[in-house]
Amino acid sequence: MIKTRDKFSSLGFVVAAAGSAIGLGNIWKFPYITFANGGGSFVLIYLIAIALIGLPIMLAEILMGRRSQQSPVTAFLYFSKDVAGGKLWSGVGFLGVAAGLVILSYYSVVAGWTVYYFGKCVQWSVSGFNETIASSLGTEFGSFLGNGPMQVLFHAIFMSLTVGIVISGIKGGIERVTKLLLPILMVILSLLCVVAMFTPGFGEAIRFLFHVGPIHTEAVLEAVGHSFFTLSLGMGALITYGSYLGRKQSIPRDALMICVLDTVIALMACVVMFSIIFSVPEAERATTFTKSATILFTTLPRMFYSLPGGVIIAPVFYLLVAFAALTSTISLLEVVASFLIDKLGWTRKKAALIAGGTIFSSGVLVALSLGANETLSTWAPFGERDAGVFGVLDYFASNWMLPVGGLLTAVFVGWFLDSKLTRDELEEGHGMFKLYGLWRFLLRYVCPVAICWIIIAVIGGRAFN
Ligand code: PHE
Repeated sequence: MIKTRDKFSSLGFVVAAAGSAIGLGNIWKFPYITFANGGGSFVLIYLIAIALIGLPIMLAEILMGRRSQQSPVTAFLYFSKDVAGGKLWSGVGFLGVAAGLVILSYYSVVAGWTVYYFGKCVQWSVSGFNETIASSLGTEFGSFLGNGPMQVLFHAIFMSLTVGIVISGIKGGIERVTKLLLPILMVILSLLCVVAMFTPGFGEAIRFLFHVGPIHTEAVLEAVGHSFFTLSLGMGALITYGSYLGRKQSIPRDALMICVLDTVIALMACVVMFSIIFSVPEAERATTFTKSATILFTTLPRMFYSLPGGVIIAPVFYLLVAFAALTSTISLLEVVASFLIDKLGWTRKKAALIAGGTIFSSGVLVALSLGANETLSTWAPFGERDAGVFGVLDYFASNWMLPVGGLLTAVFVGWFLDSKLTRDELEEGHGMFKLYGLWRFLLRYVCPVAICWIIIAVIGGRAFN
């Protein structure tokens, strides 16, 4: 029996995949690591990492998805018939599904915070934000993290939204929602950039972001590591979305658009945040940008409310982050749900509900590991730096699952798939792909070497989260 697979409309794929890529990784993590790694030099290496490693792997994932019309596990099975290693390759697909489960368990908890802070800001904007509130933001955030029921509640809200959208399907759910949210997100972020131009810190922010100084190995490692997370690579999200891509679409062009959009949004987020941070007197700055996870919630509200128009900017900003996170969480759930649909023949509704329910349950452990439960909060198999269920899962996904998944995908497509097949698929809907030779070279040599280097660094005690 041949079932016709649901398809994105022509622009739908780019929008949905860009929505998957653009998320907390861009708005929360990228500004922080850029700041920590000295600005311009890091941005430069990041751009190179996206072009030489991210983009080639993205092409590989999308071509696998479109050719096989399958989600990751069955996609690897589809190609593995005449390939050395055979069915073993489907393990890479399983790794992707597992990564989806793991990442979404903690991603949804953080995404819940953005909803909570949106509500908080609406409340502050209506009833007034004063010095007492400003000075207690840190403690307030701390007690919010330690409040188990609240953490579970907001995680539940986010998971319900995600499940609801995935149940509605590819065109009617995922495509419709991202087509609505992504443009709103871009408009809001552009407006915030305009506001940033009028802050005293804008000039310094731009100089910091684009001034290239000495380059450190640390920054290179961090940039390569982050390129997987931010582009949603290494776990089959783009294999899955690629399987809903029409045959008339050009894979190279679409992939380039996704990378450009993701990078532009990340840079715009930096402009906004750095302009605000650099508007703070130098002496206070050191305390401003200390802890990665918290600055978005402890420092930024105070800064927003010190700006003219802050009563509007603050809630709108958190709404933006929540939207960005939502278009990413649906892609994470879709990887797991489409596996259940393709492999076990479940209906979309059953798959989304059961996958969502399972992830919600594991997420509860994450939600309680931020202070509410002592044992969950202090569990530290990978050392104190990544203590707690939250830290452990983030460490494991960002340092192991995504790089290993990306490495194996690059090796599989670069070394094991027939070059005629990959060329045909990349040229379908595109015409002659002039950079094919370069793409294959990057995939066969540059990507594996770069990723192995990352993995060795991780084994040596480095962590990317
Ligand atoms: N790319 C998303 C972000 O930057 C996170 C993500 C990773 C989404 C892997 C899907 C798959 O926030």
